[in-house]
Amino acid sequence: MKKLIIINGPNLNLLGKREPEIYGTLSFTDFLNQLKDKYSDFSIDYFQSNIEGELIDKIQEVGFNYDGIILNAAAYTHTSVGIGDAIKAVETPVIEVHISNTFAREEFRHQSYISPNAKGVILGFGIQSYELAIHSFL
Ligand code: DQA
Repeated sequence: MKKLIIINGPNLNLLGKREPEIYGTLSFTDFLNQLKDKYSDFSIDYFQSNIEGELIDKIQEVGFNYDGIILNAAAYTHTSVGIGDAIKAVETPVIEVHISNTFAREEFRHQSYISPNAKGVILGFGIQSYELAIHSFL
């Protein structure tokens, strides 16, 4: 069984409540349960943190023994050299995802420290961006 982990960065614990016109009304817990049912051939773990160092610790912890990391680093995408370096350091392929199309938003969201070291990038498909990332491991 392939081992995947979804890692969500800051403020994504508020999904469903936060700016629903951009991020939708479904909570991540409900969505994750749907994903686990639908893709039961995968083991899908989940980690969320609002703290940059905790995200780096988790990437290091799983990055040599999981088959894939699906990472939405949220705001840290645009600022974190440390998370970018962590992705470069580990062996597990990382798929960068975003709910919104960051290129259609403010200029500061056009920069990503994740993309240069990611295997691929999926953005702009709402919460389904995560599901498309799972498809890349099928
Ligand atoms: C986001 C886009 C980021 O720019 C933003 O800071 C987020 C969420 C997305 O999934 O669309 O928190 O990563």
